[in-house]
Amino acid sequence: MTESTIRWDQDADGVVTLTLDDPSSSANTMNDAYVASMGETVDRLEREKESVRGVVLTSAKKTFFAGGDLGSLIRATPERSEEVLAQVTLVKRQLRRLETLGIPVASAINGSALGGGLEIALATHHRVVLDDPKVKLGFPEVTLGLLPGGGGIVRSVRLLGLTTALLELLLQGQQLRPEKALKLGLVHETAADRDELLAKARAWVLASETAQQPYDVKGYKVPGGTPSSPSLASSLPAFPANLTKQLKGAPYPAPHAILAAAVESLQVDVDTAFVVEGRYFVDLVIGQISTNMIQALWFDLNTVNGGASRPEVAETFRATTVGVLGAGMMGAGIAHAFATVGVDVVLKDVSAEAAEKGKAHVAGLVGTQVSRGRMTQESADAFLARITPTGDAADLAGCDVIVEAVFEDQALKHRVLGEAEANALPDALLASNTSTLPITGLAEGVRRPADVVGMHFFSPVEKMPLVELIVGERTSEEALARAYDVVRQIGKTPIVVQDSRGFFTSRVFGTLVLEGAALLAEGLAPMSVERAALQVGFPAGPLTLLDEVTLTLPLKIRDEAAKAGASDDHPGVAVLRALVERGRTGRSAGKGFFDWEPEKRVWPELTQLFPPSDVVPFRDAQERLLFAMAVETARCVEEKVLNSVEDANIGSILGIGFPPLYGGVLQYVDQYAGGVAGFVARADELADAYGERFRPPAILIERAVPAGSLRTALAGRGASS
Ligand code: NAI
Repeated sequence: MTESTIRWDQDADGVVTLTLDDPSSSANTMNDAYVASMGETVDRLEREKESVRGVVLTSAKKTFFAGGDLGSLIRATPERSEEVLAQVTLVKRQLRRLETLGIPVASAINGSALGGGLEIALATHHRVVLDDPKVKLGFPEVTLGLLPGGGGIVRSVRLLGLTTALLELLLQGQQLRPEKALKLGLVHETAADRDELLAKARAWVLASETAQQPYDVKGYKVPGGTPSSPSLASSLPAFPANLTKQLKGAPYPAPHAILAAAVESLQVDVDTAFVVEGRYFVDLVIGQISTNMIQALWFDLNTVNGGASRPEVAETFRATTVGVLGAGMMGAGIAHAFATVGVDVVLKDVSAEAAEKGKAHVAGLVGTQVSRGRMTQESADAFLARITPTGDAADLAGCDVIVEAVFEDQALKHRVLGEAEANALPDALLASNTSTLPITGLAEGVRRPADVVGMHFFSPVEKMPLVELIVGERTSEEALARAYDVVRQIGKTPIVVQDSRGFFTSRVFGTLVLEGAALLAEGLAPMSVERAALQVGFPAGPLTLLDEVTLTLPLKIRDEAAKAGASDDHPGVAVLRALVERGRTGRSAGKGFFDWEPEKRVWPELTQLFPPSDVVPFRDAQERLLFAMAVETARCVEEKVLNSVEDANIGSILGIGFPPLYGGVLQYVDQYAGGVAGFVARADELADAYGERFRPPAILIERAVPAGSLRTALAGRGASS
């Protein structure tokens, strides 16, 4: 017998407080124990109905309820679809019984209620939420390739209206603060603290004369109408097209399923609507895309953030004063990241004036927060006071971490790192934000090479969640562990890679953008190149990306590699050179593949330079972009630049835009039709047709056996091995 996850306490007035408190976990989820407990609870309420004045539903955890049990959802396969449908139907039936008992039920939402948690709350008649900025309410299912299948769609469209529910809640998985939830009408009241929360919920129960959901009251009108009301009927046909446009054609099934379930659910009665919602849910949950997204964005991300690649050598380190060298675009962003979590920053540039400019950039970011009401002027002032701009290296005294972000020049980096080493604390971590220079070489410029580590941020720093940590030949495990802790301290996600040209992210990103350029050279029209990428889920097309990062950057990396003896016959390189020769270096110059002023449009002469010819089938074009990245990543694994599947998947999604729907660049290989063997066969086809760069490396061929996967191949290979 599993222990109940719901406690029952009845007071003298007959009000029953149900406390969600899963004894097996720090958060409540919709696991089997919950389903059993909720079943028993509703049975008892039905039995003892006469003596129950009302119900207050709350939780004993920090959050109200965390949502679905992802461990079991990820295991849902097509063979198990009936079982999954039965389970989700049972969950809904229990909640339906709760809301139709004839007893007033209020929820006292003491913490975040996401996914299944919000579904439970919506099945109560009255919702009071704790007014704490940490509390979030919403349906993030869509971000994992799922939909709220426990009644979340059916109830939210009825309560908020179709358009509001879709746009404010369902389609993008927004997580709302209490005040926004109140404004939307998702909750009825807020409370300042836990006592008030329970008191308000209880007071509502005692005062209530009704125990019905609005949509169960005869004559209820759904806000904004149903699909048969003329106003909605006329706008509805545009919804699917708008959604496709919003997704830029990316093949995510969940948003389309949510839209369909929402519309259809309003054309039928509540109970039939639950069936409709349940069937769409099952379709998604047994599909490959939700499996990929749950694996990557939940399990792999937790593994990475949980320290799997952190050497187990030192106590958790916390930076107190960070010296940032170089107050340019990256340095200012890095200073901002540290100040955000309360760390003091010494921002050093060639002169105090140059450093002030970097601080002014941070002030701009903070000012936006203030003007949007997200930060008070007082905290903005305190924030900026943490950053000390300077032109004097002596001010680095007392720094326990140095992050270097000066121009990309080895001699200069040697000089500034050496100078910082001499002034900072004697054991300060010496990190470099270089995007291309090998860390082992940079470490030659200091007396303590074991303390040098690559700490590669992405631009813009305040938005990008990833940091790539690079282990040089002489980097110590302690230094890597400290670097890892520092990245976690600023709330970002650290992946660990070994030193090599382009590291992991820049190298694999390079194969994507060069492949895009090669497609152009082979006759694919510029916008077709872009669409090929968007329609497999990349957030932007490769030509746009090239313009954004500037065309000279990948060329510089190739040139450096060529100097080091690497052969370079990628057909995309000539395309980049052709544009650079014509002064078209990218967006910062106002012109690259696109003219960026007055508005973005394809450079008209591009099609003369590379006449479109339609020889590359569109599917090949799409797969070439994905395969180019996956094959190069496999090479990184083979060369031990990468030692963890999770780091590869998360790094590719968070750092270089690999489509999340495939669960990251190595999961793409594992989940390819036919598994690794299927991937290898297709890679060989692409290699025969388009070039040896697609030829699968040995590590893939070895795994091209039934049930072979890269995930199992790398299991246990530690980051520092
Ligand atoms: P930037 O040109 O905006 O800034 C460089 C700053 O370094 C300038 O403010 C310059 O005055 C300062 N500087 C030069 N010599 C100095 C010295 N002796 N002492 C102190 N400061 C000095 O360059 P950005 O884009 O910020 O890049 C900096 C580093 O970050 C480079 O290594 C770059 O490769 C790397 N990086 C750049 C990314 C990007 O997207 N721009 C992404 C990731 C890494």
